[in-house]
Amino acid sequence: MTDRSLLILAGDGIGPEVMAEVSRIIGWFGDRRGIAFEVSEDLVGGIAYDTHGTPLTDATMARAQEVDAVLLGAVGGPKYDTLDFSLKPERGLLRLRKEMDLYANLRPAQCFDALADFSSLKKDVVAGLDIMIIRELTSGVYFGEPRGIFKEGNERVGINTQRYTESEIARVARSAFELARKRDNRVCSMEKANVMESGVLWRDVVTEVHAAEYPDVELSHMYADAGAMQLTRWPKQFDVIVTDNLFGDLLSDLAAMLTGSLGMLPSASLGAPMANGRPKALYEPVHGSAPDIAGQGKANPIACVLSFAMALRYSFDLGAEADRLEKAVEAVLAKGIRTPDLMQAEGGTPATTTQMGDAILTALDESL
Ligand code: IPM
Ligand code: MG
Repeated sequence: MTDRSLLILAGDGIGPEVMAEVSRIIGWFGDRRGIAFEVSEDLVGGIAYDTHGTPLTDATMARAQEVDAVLLGAVGGPKYDTLDFSLKPERGLLRLRKEMDLYANLRPAQCFDALADFSSLKKDVVAGLDIMIIRELTSGVYFGEPRGIFKEGNERVGINTQRYTESEIARVARSAFELARKRDNRVCSMEKANVMESGVLWRDVVTEVHAAEYPDVELSHMYADAGAMQLTRWPKQFDVIVTDNLFGDLLSDLAAMLTGSLGMLPSASLGAPMANGRPKALYEPVHGSAPDIAGQGKANPIACVLSFAMALRYSFDLGAEADRLEKAVEAVLAKGIRTPDLMQAEGGTPATTTQMGDAILTALDESL
């Protein structure tokens, strides 16, 4: 028996392939470490639309609310491009984030030594990089009302609304300060206070929360455009970056690419604690469904595997086991085992998705 429950939503494209490797790793922890999980599986995204006519059924939504953690693969694909907005695969993901109220999205950008050459930036700029972007995930321009495409006179107008309440800003700021205390104790907050009122409020509230509750943490502010520039110029100046939903979406993709491959980066989306003390949580790779390579064994499962490592750490308080899994991934990379996205001129041992999973399992065995 176990009191740890997981809901796997593998989704579309490469989601099911990369998640299959995670399932094997979950099994490994049960068999070899006595850390068992009760795992259920369900549909999200395009596959849910194909089966049920909606990217997320109410039953799946309810199940997601009950479990300790949701593991999500990826959603979307060209086949669904022409669907109405409300039926698109991405809406399934957005509904999960919104209804579970997963306001703090943790997106680490870490550069593995074995891959430092792989970045499009110079090696000394990225080697040893370890930053964490905290993106506000349940509000801002992705959810604000009014929104829509309206008729104005004889032309159409597209409207989205950037809206943040003080409490929405304060709670994600607290997440950032708490996390910084466990790292290098520095937070940089990014907005556009020079042109946006929501940015002015963002800066005010972050400053207030800092002064009242976290004066020990070093806080700086940056306009998000300058932040993007600084992230490519000298990313190691940052520790924790906290920013809104839209800027966080952009800056986390940028930060991801510093590390060489989107196929490497995990994320955690966390909400308020549940009755058992564990936070509402969803873990997913930062990469998308990559329909162009789906079903060919080319996908890199590492981002999804590392997302499970984040689940071990943030949902189940198993930091040492998370370290074990992350070290296993590092060991595999150090051995030169490479899915196609990690292949470079100087070579390495080519691996399919499953072979990468095999290698991680072997490294886990070796960690015992
Ligand atoms: C992300 C993605 C999503 C987002 C899409 C798939 C809705 O880009 O998680 O960063 O924009 O939030
Ligand atoms: Mg994105």
